[in-house]
Amino acid sequence: MQLVFATNNLNKLKEVQAIIPQHIKLLSLKDIACTEDIPETQATIKGNAIQKAEYLKEHYGYDCFADDTGLEVEALNGEPGVYSARYAGPQRNAEDNTNKLLTELKNKANRKAQFKTVIALHLNGELHTFTGICEGSITADKQGDGGFGYDPIFKAEGYDKTFAEISLEEKNKIGHRGKAVAELVDFLKSK
Ligand code: IMP
Repeated sequence: MQLVFATNNLNKLKEVQAIIPQHIKLLSLKDIACTEDIPETQATIKGNAIQKAEYLKEHYGYDCFADDTGLEVEALNGEPGVYSARYAGPQRNAEDNTNKLLTELKNKANRKAQFKTVIALHLNGELHTFTGICEGSITADKQGDGGFGYDPIFKAEGYDKTFAEISLEEKNKIGHRGKAVAELVDFLKSK
């Protein structure tokens, strides 16, 4: 089986490649010469995942899946959520985003947050979605150099290390994308 993963993010590709069964050949956007920005203009994480998968199927014809992730912070009424990538502005800079979030949460006692990933799969003309959630909290400062995005300021519940301080294997086991991909893999195995 051959599936396109609609991402240009090499970190995500690495994470998903580590979990997906060997008999499924994963193609990246680069592999199918898709260089344009895929639109993600919906108001929800799920809406964006579906929009990306449908765009790819319509314009390139491949069976594919797309993911969209957001960090939902309780004290900020679920923000940045669907706007996580552009939280500090259109430059989509991870350093700026994490700094902004730490500033917004300064002196706030409630540090609860969750990562949510929705994967939309376009397979044999049908659309399926899978969701993975990882509950945790936002740290007071950045910790660790691994991972990407908001990883240095997020600790999963029950962990005293941030996502930037744990291994990729560990993050995949407990993380939002790992859980959503596990659901996707279960579904693909049942086909
Ligand atoms: P997207 O799913 O690529 O649109 O990601 C939205 C935003 O969430 C971006 O700023 C990413 O850097 C961030 N993000 C997505 N997944 C993760 C993760 O696993 N850890 C930390 N940040 C993430």
